[in-house]
Amino acid sequence: MATTILDASKRPFDSWALDVFYRGFFKDPILKAFYGDSGYANLGYWDASTRTATEACDRLVDRLAGLLGDAEGRVLDVACGEGATTRRLTEHFTPDDVSAINISVPQLAAARTRAPGVSFYRMDASAMEFPDNYFDHVICVEAAFHFYTRRRFLEEALRVLRPGGTLAVSDLLMMRGAPTVPWANYVANRTAYARQLAEVGFEEVQVEPALDQTWGGFRRHFTDFITAHASENGWVVSSRDLFFTNVTLAAMVRDGLLAVARKPG
Ligand SMILES: C[S@@+](CC[C@H](N)C(=O)[O-])C[C@H]1O[C@@H](n2cnc3c(N)ncnc32)[C@H](O)[C@@H]1O
Repeated sequence: MATTILDASKRPFDSWALDVFYRGFFKDPILKAFYGDSGYANLGYWDASTRTATEACDRLVDRLAGLLGDAEGRVLDVACGEGATTRRLTEHFTPDDVSAINISVPQLAAARTRAPGVSFYRMDASAMEFPDNYFDHVICVEAAFHFYTRRRFLEEALRVLRPGGTLAVSDLLMMRGAPTVPWANYVANRTAYARQLAEVGFEEVQVEPALDQTWGGFRRHFTDFITAHASENGWVVSSRDLFFTNVTLAAMVRDGLLAVARKPG
């Protein structure tokens, strides 16, 4: 009798698990406290002087906005979470010029409240419904590793950007087969990441390392935060959170980067 061995790389991407994960994430009282109710869902960009997660997350958006070159024209925030990245973008761009998308309906509802004046749409980052050559800038804060697939998202970003438009992303290189990360999104290293951007058709590709500023800073500060505040808040801490951060997530995240690239023309 033939034996069938399940090939995990052929498993369909589990978008349900992604939805469950973020419903839990945005309701979690410990995460809410850590993020100061800002609505962020990223690792932030830390240095020795950064004190809070909100400060670190604002800084990550500011770093990416800085990579865009100018803050003129229409900008799209891809995978906007509950709109914290979008709100911060409105400090760089006028709200009328900002659009944002997310796959999640409840997150979009929160985002509309957080960033008034912005146009929000429910859309898949890998199959956008915007016309060609529409945006001057596309930004994506720490989400592309989830998309099915990241490469299709990059192709879509190129399509919706006007010639000469700029893409800026912060991204994580996850281990093969990490939960909520499609198998196809495995990229070996930052050089391969830059190559993928160029293969898709971008030019002036720059990829800079950001593992310590993002994952490193988050890991240290989140671990300190839950340890320090556990008993005063009556949280049951937190083998679960310490384990998730320092074992599960630590095993999943292989590298972190910021990338910027331009559409030819
Ligand atoms: C780590 S969170 C980042 C959220 C936000 N950018 C931030 O930094 O706070 C990842 C986000 O990606 C969104 N997402 C996942 N897959 C998506 C897809 N295919 N299209 C659009 N958004 C997606 C999730 O709903 C979630 O909001």
